[in-house]
This record gives sequence, structure tokens and C-alpha cells, in this order.
Amino acid sequence: MHILAIDQGTSGTKAVVTDEKGQVLATVEEPLHPVYLDGGGVEQDPRELLGSVLSAGRWAAAEAGVPLDAVALANQGETVLAWDRSTGDPLGPAIVWQDRRAEAVCAARSGSAPRVAELTGLVLDPYFSAPKMRWLRDHRTTDGVVTTTDTWLVHQLCGVFVTDASTASRSLVLDLDAVDWSGELLSLFGLDGEELPEIVASDAIVGTTRAFGSELPVTGLIVDQQAALLAENCLEAGTAKCTYGTGAFLLAQLGPAAARSGAGLATSVAWQLRGGTGYCVDGQVYTAASAVRWMCDLGLISGADQLDTVAAPDSGGVLCVPALAGLAAPWWDSSATAALTGMTLSTGRGHLVRAVLDGIAAQVAALVTLTGDDLGTPLTRLRADGGLTRSRVLMQAQADLAQLPVDIYPSPHATALGAAACARLALDPSVTPGEVVGGWEPSATYEPSWSADRAAEHLERWNNAVAGTKGQK
Ligand code: G3P
Repeated sequence: MHILAIDQGTSGTKAVVTDEKGQVLATVEEPLHPVYLDGGGVEQDPRELLGSVLSAGRWAAAEAGVPLDAVALANQGETVLAWDRSTGDPLGPAIVWQDRRAEAVCAARSGSAPRVAELTGLVLDPYFSAPKMRWLRDHRTTDGVVTTTDTWLVHQLCGVFVTDASTASRSLVLDLDAVDWSGELLSLFGLDGEELPEIVASDAIVGTTRAFGSELPVTGLIVDQQAALLAENCLEAGTAKCTYGTGAFLLAQLGPAAARSGAGLATSVAWQLRGGTGYCVDGQVYTAASAVRWMCDLGLISGADQLDTVAAPDSGGVLCVPALAGLAAPWWDSSATAALTGMTLSTGRGHLVRAVLDGIAAQVAALVTLTGDDLGTPLTRLRADGGLTRSRVLMQAQADLAQLPVDIYPSPHATALGAAACARLALDPSVTPGEVVGGWEPSATYEPSWSADRAAEHLERWNNAVAGTKGQK
């Protein structure tokens, strides 16, 4: 069984073809060019997204040279756009999950935050999709439909109007327990008159497409982070992974109960598969590879491949809170800004690069602790994937600061493999999720080399630096 799995991410689109064992036969990647605007805006050209899906998918299919059985699609989760339902044309740029401009939408509804959290498992924050939909309606257009990008891309592929349960759970308008749109929340955001996509399972076949050659079933729709959770075999409650992509996202499996976080994290649908719903808890670092790109733009490094050669052995006392697009769990301060503190005349670029990497690791370490608090038992290992796992400096800092072993997933394509796994489940009713993803051996494991006291002391100083990032809420 050959699956064309497309990981439509923030910084790029990757298409992967897998065989019956889930082995990768071909992979093609196309970079994307989000636009960063003053005032916290982050936009993408929907046509660039679609073009990248089609061309990466076609190239990967051609490179694999095998008959395909299905196409699967992982999506960014919270990126939205307005589009014309009859022509399929976009009605403006997509508003990316990192965009902070819907902050006022949330502030105006702050009195409802406890009720929103109770119903959705999420925090009232502009990161999620419904505030962005409201912002689009208020500031851009009242025409067409407003949806997450998955709905639009799938409509382009096969004409249906759907979203999967994991993506719907990132909206702030989904009743998390019923896994259905909440009328109460839709009216809170003034979205009750909107046409809403049908919510489907990740192993549902939603239609067929000829976009990649022969007619293929479209299935395996899932949020990118949840796809990586599945690929990394985080099926047992308490297992966790962090994907170091544009942002860094730590997700832990909860199982079939949608336990709300007591630690300021978010609870979402991990996936609907085999007729059941699984849930996960997640914490977010909004800028990981984004912070690395920012360092490139400033000329500190020429690319991510320079991180480990330029980073100094220590940061020379410099601390970084990489809040370049606000702070998520547990601070939820969308107007927070990044901080670099502790610089002196002897601070060099190596110290700054090291401080940014340490800052990403420190923020993930904070999420590791909170996840353990929520689970009622500390995490004992962390699975890791994503482009930045290539930085040995970052991964060692992660093990040191979080005080646990970090196991690197052996494939750079975890997200695509997770979407492909959903498609395989759709096509073969006889297999289980565990059988489809299988076990895996880490390509590397980073063990903590710092003492617990040293890590705690560093994190205490880093937490003090977080206080300096406060926005004007
Ligand atoms: O919540 C946004 C996240 O899922 C985007 O993932 O891979 O584009 O950083 P990525």
C-alpha cells in the first residue's frame, strides 16, 4: 500500500511517499514564505500553500514511481482563511497561527475565559482559530466561508467541506467532550451564522482526487503535531513528544478522557481513529526554527546548519526568552516580547546563539514539568523530532535542562508518517494504530549531563527573565 502523505507546515510543505511497511520511498520539500507584518501579523499566500501541496505531491509521486493508494494531509492546525465556496478562490491571505492580531477579540471576551476553557480544553488566546476567524470577519471580508487551511486544501482536492476532529479541537468553538461544534461558543465569537465544515475522523475517506495523477482516496486528515505524536508511537497515556519545527510543541497522550489541564496547558483531540477519540495535552513554544530564522535575518548565522559551530560552549550569562511571537502555555501572554538579558561588552555572537538555543530548551523544560504536573507523574523520557533536532547543542541543552533523556526519532518525516499511518488505517480495517506505527529505535539519545541543582538554578534565572517579557495586556 503506497501513501502520498503531505505535511503542509508553516515554513514549508513536504510530500512523502511511503510503502506498505511505512518506509519512505520519496520525499520532496518546498519552502514557503510567510510574511511578517508590524503589529504581530503573520500571513501566507493561500495560492502558495496550494501550489506547494500540488507540486511537492506530484514530484514525490513521480520520484517514487509506484502506483499510489491514497493521499493524506497534515495541516498547521490554527491557520485560517476566507474563501469563496462556489469558486474555491481565496478571498485574501491566510492568517497564520503565529498571528497575534486577534488579541482584542479575546480581550473583549475575557469574562468568558473560564467557560471557554471548560467547554474546549483551551485557553482564550489568539493562537487558536476562532479568534482569527472573527478578526477576518471584522477586518477583511464578510464574504465566503472562513475555515482552517485543511478545509480549503481538501476542498481544492476533492470538492468536499470537511475538517478533522483534531483540527476542529484547535478552534475554541468545539465542545471537546461531544466533539461537535458548540452553538454557545460560536455565538460568543459571533460566528453562529457561518457555514461550518463537517467534522470527520482521521481515518475517514472524504473523497477522491486526480490532483496527483490517477484517482486517489483522500484520507488521513490530522493536525501536524498530532500526526507526529502518532508516528512516534505515543499511544500509551503519559508518553510525550516534542516537535522542534517553526515552533516547538510538546504533546502528551491522555487516552480516551479529555482531562482538562490544571497547569495552564491545552487539551485537544489527538485523533479520532477506529471509531474512538483520543486526547492529548500540549504546550507550545511559538518560535523555535522561527527564532533561528530571525538569527539568520540578523546575520548571526547563515543557516540552521551553523548553529552548533557558532554556538559558544555556554551563553556567558546571557539569557534568552524566545517570545518573538508572544508566550503560550502557561503564561498565555500574546503581547509578550522576546528578551535577551545579561549582555556585557564581552558578549559575542556565539553567546547569543547559545542563549537562543538554551532559551528554547528552557521553555520546553518548563512545559515538561507542567505536563508531569498534569499527568500526576513526571515525564521520564521525551521523544523528539523536527528539523532542529539536528542541533546537538539544542538537544543536549534539552536533556540538561529538562533532566530527562531525549530520544531522537530516526526519521525527519514524523508528521508525514503520522498522516500516512492514518491513511493506512483507513484503507486496511484489519490493523491497529500500534501495528501501523510500530516500535522504533532512537537515532540518538541525549542523557542529562547537568546536575539537578544546576538545571534548577538555570531555570530559576530563566523564569526571572520571563518576567521581563510582559506585554501590555
Ligand atoms: O500549532 C501550529 C503548529 O502545529 C505548526 O507546526 O510544523 O509548522 O511548526 P509547524
